[in-house]
Amino acid sequence: PGIAFGLDAPYSVEYRDRIASTNERARELATEGAADVAVVADEQTGSRGRLDREWVAPSGGVWLSVLTRPDVPTARAPLFTLAAAVATTDAAREAGVDARIKWPNDVLVEGDGGDSEEADPDATGRGGRKLAGILTEMEGEADRVGWLVVGVGVNANLDPEALPAGATSLSAERGEPVDRRRFAATLLERYAELTASPEALDAVLPAWRERAATLGRRVRVDTADGVVEGTAVDVAEPGALVVDTDEGRRRVHAGDCEHLRD
Ligand code: BTN
Repeated sequence: PGIAFGLDAPYSVEYRDRIASTNERARELATEGAADVAVVADEQTGSRGRLDREWVAPSGGVWLSVLTRPDVPTARAPLFTLAAAVATTDAAREAGVDARIKWPNDVLVEGDGGDSEEADPDATGRGGRKLAGILTEMEGEADRVGWLVVGVGVNANLDPEALPAGATSLSAERGEPVDRRRFAATLLERYAELTASPEALDAVLPAWRERAATLGRRVRVDTADGVVEGTAVDVAEPGALVVDTDEGRRRVHAGDCEHLRD
């Protein structure tokens, strides 16, 4: 059940049926000097999520990592993660699944059923079921990105029973399997388009806003400096969430975001 495929994007594809982690493989390629490679796997045996969490990646998903060496200031690197979320959302929509983005980079499906009330670190919080997650790793100088690995994990053709609480899959939402080659090709082509140049990157935040589930919602964000609670009003360069709280407007650069009931 391989998912090797042809691609209309400037990446060579390294496909593996089974690998520990596509991010790890992409990092290895980076240290060997490679660039513009997409590592794609059917199954991962040691994949990682954000904040050092385990990521469940059985056969049937779309697990991929894109290695590039973009000529941009390090401060703009978060835009690549947001671009990957936009690309994943668009690929899901092409497959007929109404996906949206929860800040900063979870792709989820809202609607009936599956709302997770219990505290579960892998779940999206109330009001959404997680379809995909993104893990970005990079190395560079203070002012220039060296290499950048954007890893995207999409629960494609997977039974939700095989997934963590609060998660869903494309096949569960559609009621039939998705063409994973086409899905992965769309995702990678869209990502390439969104990150092709500094001018293209300028369009990432507007595209992210249009697909956001978080904006206009009450949120609770767990950050390194404590919990920020309020209404999410915008996302600002280079990817910060702008939250109106009782104490005024705050910009949050990193943290775990939970959507609250309005
Ligand atoms: C998250 O915690 O939401 C991010 C999950 C990222 C998982 C993907 S699957 C492909 C790539 N390889 C990994 O080991 N992790 C990422």
